[in-house]
Amino acid sequence: MPSETVYGLAANALDASIARRIFEIKGRPLIDPLICHFYSLDAIGQHVHLNDSINKLASVFWPGALTIVAKKKESIPDIVTAGLPSVAIRMPGNEAFRNLLKSVDFPLAAPSANPFGYVSPSRAEQVEQTLGEQIPAILDAGPCEIGIESTIIDLRDEQSPSILRHGPILQEQLSLALGRVVHDRTKEIKQDKKDENEQQLAPGRLHCHYSPNASVYLLENGVINRSVTDKKSALLLNKKPSTPGSEDGTYWLSEDGDLPTIARNLFDMLQKLDRLGYRSIYVERCSNDGIGRAINDRIGRAAAK
Ligand code: TXA
Ligand code: MG
Repeated sequence: MPSETVYGLAANALDASIARRIFEIKGRPLIDPLICHFYSLDAIGQHVHLNDSINKLASVFWPGALTIVAKKKESIPDIVTAGLPSVAIRMPGNEAFRNLLKSVDFPLAAPSANPFGYVSPSRAEQVEQTLGEQIPAILDAGPCEIGIESTIIDLRDEQSPSILRHGPILQEQLSLALGRVVHDRTKEIKQDKKDENEQQLAPGRLHCHYSPNASVYLLENGVINRSVTDKKSALLLNKKPSTPGSEDGTYWLSEDGDLPTIARNLFDMLQKLDRLGYRSIYVERCSNDGIGRAINDRIGRAAAK
């Protein structure tokens, strides 16, 4: 199904056997819990212990690109939360997805609809190409408006809210809405630690993620050490170069460096460059302002070995 962030692979979150299919189809490890999507706060209240902070953020940011980790009730099966007592919840804003949620009487568990480790899809065609043979239907609502995954905030402890994944809703916006400092725990979470605390904090947030088949290299300070004769590597810039030569293999994510446009085009472009057969992609980072931080996070993960 579509969402404003990326396409997701949805199943009834209250049915353990169908939710298990999500892991099988994606090749996703069972320790990586799923996000549950709801139509309304009322529906959420049936399955999750709400608190003041959740209510506050819900009134400001939902429906929208914010996922909240909260304490779950019994009704959410263990497979969905990887055995954790917490569950990640979101009320999405995309109209087609909202209509779908309204038409069923259960929440939909949905991770991004990509094979585990690959770039998330921002178009229905990409889901068709990668998972199409394994799923009964795709709800195509056109390209996703935002293009990168939701921000995740951990609100299990209201006294110490923290960001687990950067995304379209910013740390500063969350701090302002809650009236307290929201910590950035995204850097604390290291690669596949089996340690239990680590798993409690943000299971499955593997450092190396969102990778295309091509090797991704970061372009620091615009330095390009690509050989001009190298036909197998692509250069991916933030904005259209001022002197766009006829140089083969140069691509850009926006005309003018607009960050939301870069976010919208990033995953799409990485997949396009894969389809074109490039073996390596040199990607320019953008400024850390606004959604730029989440963009740089995704680029960094794509480049991680
Ligand atoms: O924008 C999005 O969030 C998209 C759309 C489809 O909603 N979904 C998405 O799901 O990005 P996914 O599976 O790719 O990311 C889910 C991540 C997990 O990898 C984990 O890091 C975090 O959410 N998560 C889920 N449940 C959690 C929990 N109980 N505690 C901590 N983190 C959790
Ligand atoms: Mg994902």
